[in-house]
Amino acid sequence: MKHYILGIESSCDDTSAAVLENNNILANVIANQDIHKKYGGVVPELASRAHQQNIIPVVDTALKTAEITKDQLTAIAFTRGPGLLGSLLVGTSFAKSFALGLKIPLVDVDHLQAHILAHFIQNEDGSRDLPSFPFLCLTISGGHTQIVVIRNYFDMEIIGSTIDDAAGEAFDKAAKIMGLPYPGGPEIDKLAKQGNPNRFKFPKPKIQELDFSFSGLKTSFLYFVRDELKKNENFIEENKADLAASIQQTIVNILIEKLEKAAKQTGITEVAIAGGVSANSEMRTRLTESGKKLNWKVFIPEFQFTTDNAAMIAIAGYYKYLDGKYASQSDVPYARSKM
Ligand code: KG4
Ligand code: ZN
Repeated sequence: MKHYILGIESSCDDTSAAVLENNNILANVIANQDIHKKYGGVVPELASRAHQQNIIPVVDTALKTAEITKDQLTAIAFTRGPGLLGSLLVGTSFAKSFALGLKIPLVDVDHLQAHILAHFIQNEDGSRDLPSFPFLCLTISGGHTQIVVIRNYFDMEIIGSTIDDAAGEAFDKAAKIMGLPYPGGPEIDKLAKQGNPNRFKFPKPKIQELDFSFSGLKTSFLYFVRDELKKNENFIEENKADLAASIQQTIVNILIEKLEKAAKQTGITEVAIAGGVSANSEMRTRLTESGKKLNWKVFIPEFQFTTDNAAMIAIAGYYKYLDGKYASQSDVPYARSKM
């Protein structure tokens, strides 16, 4: 039986709609909001307004790309949280009214669970290797850094998380200090390719167990750059690539060390990464290396499923739909994680 699931994602600054036929991807359309670039970060009110403008064209394009009509849809899945409330409201209200109009089930999805469940999206020829339960996932995004044990689609346990900044924030803040545009993660990734990662050393935080901390790293990076600028006002310009490579290596070292510790503690050998920072090339290389060294089966998401996208919302919605766990018209978005 064919189920067509429309996914809607609007939790932050990307408006996205996707269509799945069961677990197979048919369309994944993302409208980025360039408006935030000149402010050096996401401006919530501007994000909501841009979602309002983008949502209908994005859904329309997704249906056309998938070559189906709205009447063929089986269910509509939407991001209920966590995220910016004004942004979430746009996707939530759209999904509710569309489902009501089409008289089909509505399914609410948690954004963080969806980042992880993106690993279950199958490609058209069915050739992708999917994880089996239980597996570990390091979710690294602009708002979260978590190590999660996934026992089943919706049976997840967080065994480690950041006590302050997220990994993506560490990239973005370091980039901002260097005068790079937002979001800084991809900029640092690009620059780092030409740089020496061992040129500058930054202290690693001493945090208990499987938790993370990145705010101290940001401060030491800030003070280091500030002091060097006093000696040479062109310090950043002259050392851009080495600075990027060094801060990137430090962040990835912190992440990989805890992930290896988590795998050792749990005895789990299937290991995935998810979220925007899983697009980072150093992170991807190092995960592959850890996998070879420790005999893990590793799962690295396709680039289109790393940063925010609606395909991950649709796959999470598909499994929830199969379970009969529908949302109601009175469900409201939530800003903070419920995981
Ligand atoms: O998952 P995501 O799109 O949004 C949230 O749910 O937060 O993640 C966005 C984060 C940003 O901090 C961005 O700088 C980071 O992912 N990011 C990267 C790369 N691509 C995106 N960080 C490092 N390297 C990248 N290539
Ligand atoms: Zn995200």
